[in-house]
Amino acid sequence: MPSSKITGVGMYVPEDVVTNDDLSKLMDTNDQWIVERTGIKQRRFFKEGVDSVAKMAAKAAQIALDRAGKKAEDVDFIVFATLSSDYNFPGSGVLLQRKLPFRNIGAIDVRGQCSGFVYALSIADQFIKTGMYKTILVVGSEVQSNIFEMSNRGRNMAVIFGDGAGAAVVEATNEPGKGILTTKLHSDGRFAEELYQENPGSRKKDRITAEMFEKGEFLPYMNGKLVFMNALRFFPEVVREALAEFNFKDSDLDLLIPHQANARITAAIQKEMNLPPEKIVSNIERYGNTTAASVPLALCEAWETGRIKDGDLVALAAFGSGFMWASALIRW
Ligand code: UT7
Repeated sequence: MPSSKITGVGMYVPEDVVTNDDLSKLMDTNDQWIVERTGIKQRRFFKEGVDSVAKMAAKAAQIALDRAGKKAEDVDFIVFATLSSDYNFPGSGVLLQRKLPFRNIGAIDVRGQCSGFVYALSIADQFIKTGMYKTILVVGSEVQSNIFEMSNRGRNMAVIFGDGAGAAVVEATNEPGKGILTTKLHSDGRFAEELYQENPGSRKKDRITAEMFEKGEFLPYMNGKLVFMNALRFFPEVVREALAEFNFKDSDLDLLIPHQANARITAAIQKEMNLPPEKIVSNIERYGNTTAASVPLALCEAWETGRIKDGDLVALAAFGSGFMWASALIRW
C-alpha cells in the first residue's frame, strides 16, 4: 500500500499589515491587552478585488506545486479547507480548480474550521492509500477580517483573527517508513455553539433580517475561556494519540506545528509536552489566528526556514470550532 508524502508547501498572505495600534483606532483595545492575552502583534487583512479565498489559495498552491516540481495538470484531486468561502455555494474547491490549469478533477470543501487543514490532509492521505489518486492538492485559505465587526461589540474576536492561505502537495510514495504515518480526527458537537456563527443559516425562515443586523446576530460568537481550557487538554492528547500508535514518546518529536490559536496555548502545550522552544512553531505574532490557513502557514514557514529536515518526525495538530480537533504525524 502506498503512503502519502508532502512534497511541496506554499503560502500567501495579503499585503496589508494591520497592527494592534491600527485596531485600537477602531475599537477600545490596545497593544498591551492583545499581546498579553494572545501574543499577536499584527495580522494581514485582505484587499477586496485583489485577494479572495480562492485567489489566495491559487497563489499558495502555485508555490507548493513549483516546489514539488509538479504542474497543475498533474494534480488528481483538490481538498480545500475553509470557513470563509467566496460564495455560500459552490465551494472554494471549484473556484480554485478554474484558476489554474487543472484538469476536470474532483474538488471538495472541508468545513473543519481551525482543524480544517489537518482534516483535509487526512482525507488526501486516505485517497492516496487506497490507490485512487497519486497527487493531491490540500489547501487552507481564509478571509476573516470581514466576518468580525471592527467595533467595541466585535473586539473580543476581531483582534484575534487574520487572513491568508497555505497549501501542500501530497503525493504517493513507496519509500518505507516515510510520509504521513497516521492522522487522528475527533469532534464533540455538544460544543458547536461555543464557537460559531449562527447567521445567516438555514434554520430560520428568513435567513437575513434587519433585526439580525441591529442585534449583531451575524457576528461570530466565541466562549473564549471554554475554548482555551479545552485546547489545553486536546492539543497534547491528540498528538500523544498519534505518537502512541508507534510507541513514540513526546521527546521523539523533532517539530510540533500546532494551529496558531493563541501564543499562551502554544506555550502551555510546549510546557506540558516538555519540548524545547526549537521543537515547536509559533508565528501567531505576525499573522494572528488564520483558522484553516494557520497550520499550512506555520508548516510552510517552518520548511522555508530549514526547521524541517529529511527524516524528521513532525506533528501537525489543531483544535477549534465544532469542537473539532486533529493531528497528523509525519516522517519527513
Ligand atoms: O482557533 C481556535 C479557537 N480560539 C481559541 O483557541 C481562543 C481561545 N481563547 C482565548 O484565546 C482567550 O479566551 C481570549 C484571548 C479570546 C480572551 O482572553 P481572556 O483572558 O479569556 O479574556 P476575556 O474574554 O475574559 O476578557 C477579559 C476582559 C473583559 O473585560 P472585563 O469583563 O474583565 O471588564 C473583556 O471585555 O477583556 C475585555 N476585552 C478586551 N479588552 C481589550 C475583550 N476583548 C478585548 C479587546 N481589547 N480586544
